[in-house]
Amino acid sequence: MAADLGTVTGASPGDRRPPRVTTSFPNGRSDSTMTARPRLRHTRRGLLALAATVTLALGGLLASGASSPSRAATQEPCDIYAAASTPCVAAHSTTRALYAAYDGPLYQVKRASDGATTNVYPLSTGGYANSATQDSFCANTYCSITEIYDQSGNGNNLTDAPAGGAAGGPDILANAAAAPTTAGGHKVYGVFISPGMGYRDDSTKNIATGNASEGEYAVLDGTHYDNGCCFDYGNAETNNDDDGAGAMEAIYFGTENAWGYGSGNGPWIMADMENGLFSGSAVHLNSGDPTTSYRFTTAMIEGGANQWAILGGNADSGSLATDYSGVRPSGYNPMKKQGAIILGIGGDNSDSSAGTFYEGVMTSGYPSATTEAAVQANIVSVGYANYTLPSNPFTSGKEISLQATTPCCTSDYITGNYPSGDEVGLDAVTSSSSTTVKKDATWIVEPGLANSNCVSFKSANGSGDYIRHYNFELYLEPNDGTGQFALDATFCPRAGNSGSNYSFMSYNYSYKYIRHYNYIGYVASDGGSNTWDASSLWYEDTTWAVATAWS
Ligand code: AHR
Ligand code: AHR
Repeated sequence: MAADLGTVTGASPGDRRPPRVTTSFPNGRSDSTMTARPRLRHTRRGLLALAATVTLALGGLLASGASSPSRAATQEPCDIYAAASTPCVAAHSTTRALYAAYDGPLYQVKRASDGATTNVYPLSTGGYANSATQDSFCANTYCSITEIYDQSGNGNNLTDAPAGGAAGGPDILANAAAAPTTAGGHKVYGVFISPGMGYRDDSTKNIATGNASEGEYAVLDGTHYDNGCCFDYGNAETNNDDDGAGAMEAIYFGTENAWGYGSGNGPWIMADMENGLFSGSAVHLNSGDPTTSYRFTTAMIEGGANQWAILGGNADSGSLATDYSGVRPSGYNPMKKQGAIILGIGGDNSDSSAGTFYEGVMTSGYPSATTEAAVQANIVSVGYANYTLPSNPFTSGKEISLQATTPCCTSDYITGNYPSGDEVGLDAVTSSSSTTVKKDATWIVEPGLANSNCVSFKSANGSGDYIRHYNFELYLEPNDGTGQFALDATFCPRAGNSGSNYSFMSYNYSYKYIRHYNYIGYVASDGGSNTWDASSLWYEDTTWAVATAWS
């Protein structure tokens, strides 16, 4: 291979390694907050007219949507809530319109290459997101989600969360390509939150405050969670600080068990009411709140005057279970809700949690059981499903080699124990390479140690070692059984950042992908504080061809 090593300093002769960087904790906070308001083609007057014309025929609700590719359903979730006089006052989704008449923007993405932004709209009025807009706009660069628009007409749009009492900011923005899925058979994207990421709106309109009643639902990935505080969606403080018991009322999803928890090992749907995640009225265990981990999970919290409820179920089938319904925990009556909206963080910007959000709303008033059942039926009719990569080569047990696509390096493959020690780098493998080299350049695809919807790469050299990142550099190491190792060794195959082949997103730093840089393996963002985050060649260096296994 023709390596220009002239820029490497501090390395011994023949050593291609760049100087080891030891401190490189998350960068990527460079995405600036976008404040542009949406071009709301759907007017408030239109919404009122819509609300006046919807009917409450439940049979009609249950029949809505599923069969129509354009999804011109007569009633989407917010139509159902409006007809029952508990209207949506915030409605967020990157996957679909939540009103049958909504044709405004769903979300905004910003690309790293030139800082430009664009809005993603539904394919048709009331329809699914036109993900092709994102895919073409973001070709050969990285895009983050800068804004998730409120479809309710209240302008309660979610943007980059600012610093709060628990963590600095602004938070990292979500990778727009991190959570591909299908809805109604259409490829769409969810909002994949890694620790450090979060969205917020501190200046809202018509969201419940004080002890007023509200309902909230979210459709989440029930396999993507952690035990950090706090993957929330819902009502929070307007000042980004912990203002004490009752200042929040948000859906929480995950395995944080310092406050409340339910039965099993989690994850649990709980209510974040501030200074406490509650699975019922007791402070710790409420065994009626089950572990809920459907790939697509519907999570609901309803909150009224000394009455609240947790509802949960499979967003792809069946009805909702009422996991709790009853009085407030001690010290939380009356509530002191402030009416800000958070996504992916706690009320004080606690930002060490993970999760994936597809859609969610907040209502004014406490929704009835009949209404929630109709909303669940509508969610089920979407048919959320896993997105499968074209000719997906990442099936469990398969042996593959991973070939660089950057013009410099197309004879090179990701190789373990190379260039030295336990490092992972690019080696020029040929048919005359030694058996050892060939084995070190062959990877067994395994279900991701931290999430089986992603993968881990086990070496075929017999060591049983996996590729993991540490300080954002790749190493070949034995699984030590820790949660940290599982996270660091889990990568999510995605469409190639250069428009063909594949890229591998870090599961716990979802704005970074496996990259080669000076022939060393890293996880890298498109621009950032580490040398290997250089924007130049980023999309090529992070794109890999899947080759026939060398060994
Ligand atoms: O209630 C749990 C968390 O406690 C809140 O989200 C946060 O504001 C506080 O740290
Ligand atoms: O590679 C980044 C982080 O570095 C890993 O998550 C962690 O194991 C180490 O601190």
